[in-house]
Amino acid sequence: MLRLALPLFVAFAFAQTVPPEQMRINAPYVTTPNIVVDAMLKLANVKRSDVVYDLGCGDGRIVIAAAKKLGAHGVDIDINPERIAEARTNAQSANVAHLLRFEINDVFDSDIHDATVVVLYLLQDLNLRLRPKLLHDLKPGTRVISHAFHMGSWKPEREMIVEGNRLYLWTIPAP
Ligand SMILES: C[S@@+](CC[C@H](N)C(=O)[O-])C[C@H]1O[C@@H](n2cnc3c(N)ncnc32)[C@H](O)[C@@H]1O
Repeated sequence: MLRLALPLFVAFAFAQTVPPEQMRINAPYVTTPNIVVDAMLKLANVKRSDVVYDLGCGDGRIVIAAAKKLGAHGVDIDINPERIAEARTNAQSANVAHLLRFEINDVFDSDIHDATVVVLYLLQDLNLRLRPKLLHDLKPGTRVISHAFHMGSWKPEREMIVEGNRLYLWTIPAP
């Protein structure tokens, strides 16, 4: 009984003490269809010289495609160790693991400063909360691509729909 009661009490106490605007729900695991992955890489104009970060990488397919098809380097970050294990195995199967780095981390705690392209497929609320970090950490000229979720007042440079999936592109401006 105590085993059940204690976690419930901790969750309840957390809900009482964390202000609503600071509560965060992590994005669920849903993969981007491969045809949409290709469209995202094209929209960001990913090249061999790019370093592509997927913040919440799932099975790693976007960064793996960028490495396999375009020769780009990349970093796969996910809060779930199972996803990172899967992404690593998939990269090895695709013979691109040497171009990639894998990190178990919360996107808000990750070091993303050397990205030239950032890919997001998270949640609307997470995108909005990520904006200060993206502006602070990323170099001017870094492209940010989001699948499905916008950035509020950030007007996208380009927006398109691929098989029902909405994609957005922004470029980090000079300070
Ligand atoms: C919708 S899936 C997208 C997977 C992949 N990027 C794709 O487009 O196919 C979201 C992923 O983000 C991860 N995730 C959710 N919240 C996260 C957080 N705060 N930090 C890091 N990863 C997170 C989940 O574990 C999940 O794998």
